[in-house]
Amino acid sequence: MGKDNVEIIAVEATQANMMDYEEASRSFDWADVEKRFSWHETGKVNLAYEAIDRHAASERRDHIALHYSDPVRSESYTFEQLRQQSNRAANMLRKLGIGKGDRVFIFMPRTPELYFTLLGIIKIGAIAGPLFEAFMETAVKDRLADSGAVAIITTPKLVERVPSHELPELQHVILVGDEQEITAPYIHFAQEMQEASTEADIEWVDLDDGLILHYTSGSTGKPKGVYHVHRAMIQQEYTGRIVLDLQENDIYWCTADPGWVTGTSYGIFAPWLNGVTNVVRGGRFSPQDWYETIGRYQVTVWYSAPTAFRMLMGAGDEVVQQYDLSSLRHVLSVGEPLNPEVIRWGYRVYGQRIHDTWWMTETGAQLICNYPRMDIRPGSMGRPIPGVEAAIIDDAGNVLPPLRMGNLAIKTPWPSMMYKIWNNPAKFEEYTRIPGWYISGDSAYMDEDGYFWFQGRIDDVINTSGERVGPFEVESKLVEHPAVAEAGVIGKPDPVRGEVIKAFISLREGYTATEELKQEITRFVKEGLSAHAAPREIEFKDKLPKTRSGKIMRRVLKAWELELPTGDLSTIED
Ligand code: WTA
Repeated sequence: MGKDNVEIIAVEATQANMMDYEEASRSFDWADVEKRFSWHETGKVNLAYEAIDRHAASERRDHIALHYSDPVRSESYTFEQLRQQSNRAANMLRKLGIGKGDRVFIFMPRTPELYFTLLGIIKIGAIAGPLFEAFMETAVKDRLADSGAVAIITTPKLVERVPSHELPELQHVILVGDEQEITAPYIHFAQEMQEASTEADIEWVDLDDGLILHYTSGSTGKPKGVYHVHRAMIQQEYTGRIVLDLQENDIYWCTADPGWVTGTSYGIFAPWLNGVTNVVRGGRFSPQDWYETIGRYQVTVWYSAPTAFRMLMGAGDEVVQQYDLSSLRHVLSVGEPLNPEVIRWGYRVYGQRIHDTWWMTETGAQLICNYPRMDIRPGSMGRPIPGVEAAIIDDAGNVLPPLRMGNLAIKTPWPSMMYKIWNNPAKFEEYTRIPGWYISGDSAYMDEDGYFWFQGRIDDVINTSGERVGPFEVESKLVEHPAVAEAGVIGKPDPVRGEVIKAFISLREGYTATEELKQEITRFVKEGLSAHAAPREIEFKDKLPKTRSGKIMRRVLKAWELELPTGDLSTIED
């Protein structure tokens, strides 16, 4: 595509961030970003200090750090109050003998306690493992077992999904809830917090010491623990400034849950490293509730996801008019391809250009983005941020010229790149198999002006509502059901969710394909794994296409679904 036939939504002179992209890229040096942090002098670091305590010790001490609300609670905390609450959490954990390098999981809905705890874990040099509240027992167990977690902070309701008896390394279960719901051996969060001191020593660590483990899915095997270190903050702070465009008086709202990487890198770290007010809205999605939240807090910078924007678009323009969205000045999106149609709609009804950003759990922070001061080409993810080099390469590692489709690759390293995959060096090597490059698993092309255009996943990973689901994990759960002999799972294109999960299933002898059985199998996955991983569609087949070595050929299932040619079948069983 040449420049002439590309749709462009031009930058407006009103954008606060006047960074010139070309200029910034030319003169860029990560070392300049590092100078913004205190370790530049001491050599030792702690992300929680840089995000909270540093501001609490400055004139921003009484600035609001967190506006939290859900349908029943509404609370705000200053940087100084967050410093104290996270110190209490740090002391609570220390009292249990937890310390540097230990894995401590958080499994609860978004509430202020989640944020105090996550910061407290980081303050003592432990490694935080946030889990999405919708996970069911198998998903929880796999992650805790793989990481060897020693403690989990959860709620009286969710603890039913934590199979402690099968997790020998798990020593402490802390519950956030009312006293009458909590009995020994469970530890009562509120009581411990109340008794704990508001002062705590920070564990100073090295830039490459562990910070957080985010489990994410690939196309094969169990979910893998993507291990990030404190160094990631360099890029989180920087992109918070130049991509989110965070300024001193912004009110920022990232709609993601900390169970996913966007909810930590950009729902916690980027805003607080920049000393900015962060909005957290608990409870369920509804267009009315979301617009009301923007109006209530006068949100200026809003980071959300394509599925959410599509649902808002579906709710209609009239709803928008009933709320005050006049505070908005910068809107961004991540997680899946952002449809040009949604960008045009957003421009029309919000008066805002929605800025697409591309990155992954493994990359720790944004890499390819639309900047405030950049013309938007609807459908393009944007251009690499200064300090990052992206290219399209073929399987042999050759850099391809513009307009050729291939592997989206990033020159290694960059500050927020994952440090390793927990317990699985072989998996890590799959990403770095071509020397000097990180292979993302996405396919894309670059246009002649350096804008990148997403084309799809190279592997079978499913992206449903912006959440990554590994087909293997779903298939493994499906075959645990007594009726299921074999299962193959694919992503089926969907206008709102991007993709939905479709399962092809062959039944065991003695079972008949009925509507009730479909529902029962769906419920089985929902209750065992998680709602977002459950198939929306099931199709029964007598036989599934397999390779001679017995692997189900998802590629063929996908071709069936899309009524496409099935391609090379030379490895098929019969
Ligand atoms: C996809 C979320 C198109 C992509 C931060 C990537 C996108 C995967 C975009 C990572 C985008 C993310 N346009 N696709 N702007 N952003 N993706 O790990 O396939 O949950 O590899 O990280 O989401 O998903 P993850």
